[in-house]
Amino acid sequence: MSLLINHISDIEKQISQWKKQGLKIGLVPTMGALHIGHESLIKKARETCDKVIVSIFINPTQFGPNEDFDKYPRTLEKDAELCKAHGVDIIFAPSVSEMYPDMDNLTKIVPPQSFQDKLCGKSRSGHFDGVALVVTKLFNITQADVAFFGLKDAQQFFIIKKLVKDLNISIELVGCPIVRDFDGLAMSSRNIYLTPENRQKALCLNKMLKKIQELYIKGEKNVQNAKKEALKLLENGVNIEYFECLSTDTLNPKSDLESEILIAIAVKLNNIRLIDNIILEK
Ligand code: PAJ
Repeated sequence: MSLLINHISDIEKQISQWKKQGLKIGLVPTMGALHIGHESLIKKARETCDKVIVSIFINPTQFGPNEDFDKYPRTLEKDAELCKAHGVDIIFAPSVSEMYPDMDNLTKIVPPQSFQDKLCGKSRSGHFDGVALVVTKLFNITQADVAFFGLKDAQQFFIIKKLVKDLNISIELVGCPIVRDFDGLAMSSRNIYLTPENRQKALCLNKMLKKIQELYIKGEKNVQNAKKEALKLLENGVNIEYFECLSTDTLNPKSDLESEILIAIAVKLNNIRLIDNIILEK
């Protein structure tokens, strides 16, 4: 039975009891509309922690003025069912005013520009400030020992890793692999907006990334050559927003495929924004 908690003071009471018992607490931060991608994080938390908290909070501070905060799907009842089915202990679903009682005078947390001025951060100014703020609040409120994030949002994961290191936050971070649908498309709440024809086209993202991986395994160490080959698989109507190869430590561009690198792509297909990536290990 998952307990639905809306108030910070209530969750704090529960957590202080767990802490006294020395239990290992796992946190899965989400914005709801849960799908099998989120489910994989919850399962991982359930396997490795004594208590599991799933937070469901559509965080206004990470949405830009022209983004879809109001339209973001809100499916709490269905999400609660899924959490129950996976033995989640607490669903923490605070209101905006509970999380931000003084919204006009917020303390800011600003990840380094060098981590923000690329990939998704480039077109979403201030987005990662909002993510850093809410994640720090969730870490502090839940006092979690471990937090689970998906590598689907790779830039988010590496920014949070940097945040935890720079602010000496005592929490372990677990990055979980991208969950894909049967046809290879990375699971996303936005996939439902794709027509069957566009969905077919969208598969080229995964094909392009796999092509680079294949070339890398065969010995290609030049990023530009690998990208050129991959781009041959791009479908008509798929507009690239970025297609970058970056160091996972610094998020700076990498021109050789010789250390661990993140290859990330974002496209727009009929105004639907899709992202995907792979990490090539040394
Ligand atoms: P949300 O988009 O709900 O995603 C919650 C978590 O699920 C993130 O860590 C995301 O990377 C992971 N996830 C989504 N799709 C996935 C997939 N196909 N495979 C694996 N993991 C997947 O990311 C956020 O919310 C917010 O920014 C948040 C961190 C909660 C802060 O508000």
